[in-house]
Amino acid sequence: MRIKRSRLGILTSGGDCAGLNPAIKWVVKTATDERLEEERGVRYEVLGIRDGFKGLVEVDPFSPDTEGYIEHLDRDKVRTWDRVGGTFLGTSRLSPYDPKNDQSRRVIENIEKLGLEALIVLGGDGSLSIASRLEQAGVNVVGIPKTIDKDLAGTDYTLGFDTALNVVTEEVDRLRTTAGSHKRIFVVETMGRTAGWLALEGGEACGAYIILIPEHGFAVDRVNELVLEGRRAGARYEIIIAAEGAKLAGGSEFVKHEGVDSFGHQALGGVAEYVAAEIRRGTGLETRSVVLSHLQRGGAPSAHDRRMGRFFGIAAVDLVVRRDYGKMVSYTSGKMTAFPLKDIIGKLRLVDVSTQYDAERYNGRRTVL
Ligand code: F6P
Repeated sequence: MRIKRSRLGILTSGGDCAGLNPAIKWVVKTATDERLEEERGVRYEVLGIRDGFKGLVEVDPFSPDTEGYIEHLDRDKVRTWDRVGGTFLGTSRLSPYDPKNDQSRRVIENIEKLGLEALIVLGGDGSLSIASRLEQAGVNVVGIPKTIDKDLAGTDYTLGFDTALNVVTEEVDRLRTTAGSHKRIFVVETMGRTAGWLALEGGEACGAYIILIPEHGFAVDRVNELVLEGRRAGARYEIIIAAEGAKLAGGSEFVKHEGVDSFGHQALGGVAEYVAAEIRRGTGLETRSVVLSHLQRGGAPSAHDRRMGRFFGIAAVDLVVRRDYGKMVSYTSGKMTAFPLKDIIGKLRLVDVSTQYDAERYNGRRTVL
């Protein structure tokens, strides 16, 4: 039987997180599996593209020196990658469809010049929206969902979330001892952009007293009331988790600085500091704020992210083998499946306050059935 040759490209785009390297490893291992060659009738080669879409903009495919942009990936190279956080391919927030500098033509031409049969994109909503536009322009694309925000439509899980959740839990465990010693309140700011998943699940995991999420605007007076109620009931200290996107009822998100990046995202931050100041003012209790920031994206992938990276990587190659393009691999209702990329654009998966949040206690729900 004649074995056809086919070349795949893979890139990571947007904010990094733990779980990317395991997914890359399993794309490479599955695509280049010699035992499956005959059944598929195809021998795949995998090119890693560095620094997200920036690599596809900047590479000159016909130059003898493409090393800064392209890396040939084989089983030996990726063998140990699943233990390591971040992305060995590098990433960027460059969008080839940036309205101020549209470089999409160049990206599409470079994909052709590199001879890529398909491009596998590991990304969140911004990067997978780019992938979807490339697909509409005729590129064969497969997406793998990743973001510690877990806010992508079409999947119940996104790589990196579980590791970030563990960071939140571990860091709050550390804060508890010092908070208790000094009878202090700590307001801990988590990432998550406009989605409250990391704050809510992190707060539930670490046993936070109050959890503020973007999906439900909060009132300072209610926060202070709850804090004083806790003290009257004998609490020595309180842990309050505030999602970076949490906002006052009727208000808007706290932003670090004006303007948006090339994905159209604002830099959020400052809510924990604000809440801490308001608690000090309203209750007189000693209150500090801590911003967990990029710690949540760092460190080795958790066992869950290694396994999910493995399954997402394998599923992405399954789609390529079936030539079932224009889809993102997805984990939905306990099963691996696939979801059309075009259907994730402009939608976000957010916390459903009516079933998942206790709007009176500002916390997770106390009824779960
Ligand atoms: O989307 C992932 C995320 O970590 C958000 O939670 C956060 O708002 C943002 O990226 C931070 O981006 P940057 O790494 O560019 O500061």
